Amino acid sequence: MSEVIAIEGGHKLNGTVRIGGAKNATVALIPALVLSDGPVEIFGAPNISDVSALAQLLRELNCVVEISGDHIKVDPTNMINIPLESDAVVKLRASYYFMGALLGKYKKVKIKMPGGCYLGPRPIDLHLKGFEALGANISYDEKEGSYLLEAEELVGTSIYLDFASVGATINILLAAVKAKGKTVIENAAKEPEIIDVANLLTKMGAKIRGVGTDTITIDGVENLHGTFHEIIPDRIEAGTFLIIAAAMGEKVVVQNIIPQHLEALISKLKEMGVKMDIVGDSIVVYGGNDLKGVSVKTQIYPGFATDLQQPLTALLTQAQGESTVKETIYVERFKHCEQLNKMGAHIELGTACSLVFGRTPLHGARVEATDLRCGAALIVAGLMAQGVTEISNVYHIDRGYDNIDRKLITLGANISRYEIDD
Ligand code: EPZ
Repeated sequence: MSEVIAIEGGHKLNGTVRIGGAKNATVALIPALVLSDGPVEIFGAPNISDVSALAQLLRELNCVVEISGDHIKVDPTNMINIPLESDAVVKLRASYYFMGALLGKYKKVKIKMPGGCYLGPRPIDLHLKGFEALGANISYDEKEGSYLLEAEELVGTSIYLDFASVGATINILLAAVKAKGKTVIENAAKEPEIIDVANLLTKMGAKIRGVGTDTITIDGVENLHGTFHEIIPDRIEAGTFLIIAAAMGEKVVVQNIIPQHLEALISKLKEMGVKMDIVGDSIVVYGGNDLKGVSVKTQIYPGFATDLQQPLTALLTQAQGESTVKETIYVERFKHCEQLNKMGAHIELGTACSLVFGRTPLHGARVEATDLRCGAALIVAGLMAQGVTEISNVYHIDRGYDNIDRKLITLGANISRYEIDD
């Protein structure tokens, strides 16, 4: 059995939607909790399947895990460092954060290669380069598909990242916080989720400076203790709802936002002609705009987020004139275009770019979520389309959006979910 989301398009949206905790912070914060010597708690976690998969891995490590609502309490006091090879590991790419966390805590980790969305080749060479620089010996078992990392000791050093990788920056941070001496990460990524992980580690007793810039300095410490941490809002969920509001809103309030995290998208939506007001930690989006086509180029933070180019592409189909979307992060992140074209869009693909001709009326169709943010793009399109759109492979969407259909129903969308026989 699998689930399908059905959307009857054309309904205007009004009201307020509250954004949850950041998926891409939470999936790193949860593995980081094992570095604590005692109980540690995080609040504001989204109710998504990635969180459940990571909680299962914590329990496999004999951590005591209590989840109530958005509150996750973990006690790693009696944890054991067993190989992580269950099916939970391959459910998401972020399980690789256990590499850095367990290497940092035990100087040894064995883990199966992670899974996640297919967005083209997604190597972890920069992560491994960082671990080796700190003193880890790395071996890969082709048969099992798993990595073994071991170090006599982890010694701080200077690590230059050839690409400002989010994952590599966080993973090296997790391995370095208890290493001997000073570690400097050069050309580090600056995404807000990295700052959130560093804030948790600092509250646990880590000594970290410069997070949010391209040079992060870590002075290793002996022990890390428990703490409480509130997760930052999800800037990608927020951006997705700003795009939805721009598509079908009359007046929609998107609440629990850090506007600075969305500067590139806000600027692009305004360039398209979307009327918005920023009011504290909310953004009010007004409908009825004549949208015009724009050029988008994804960049590392604070540039335009690659995770938002797919949902924005759905909106660009309703903008007057031609738009171009250039990917510099994941050059193959264009599987949503074929699905949108099934709904009447006119999108042509080039090398690491798409050309969107607008505006083209969209009609309901049976489409497939090929990955998480493709699913988001299809929801945006389904809300705008004439007739009913059926989106299959909803599990992709549930990995990264907490009850998106329920949130849309409260805004006035006609959206339902049902099971089908595979
Ligand atoms: C994180 O992925 C996010 N995932 C992605 O969000 C996001 O798109 C991406 O950062 C960029 O912002 C999580 O945080 C769980 P990268 P990550 O390492 O860490 C190459 C979503 O939709 N690279 O910055 O994997 C890589 O191939 C997901 O929520 C190497 O070459 O991103 C890619 O082209 C999708 N070697 C580029 O860098 C490495 O060792 C960006 O990767 C690592 C990365």
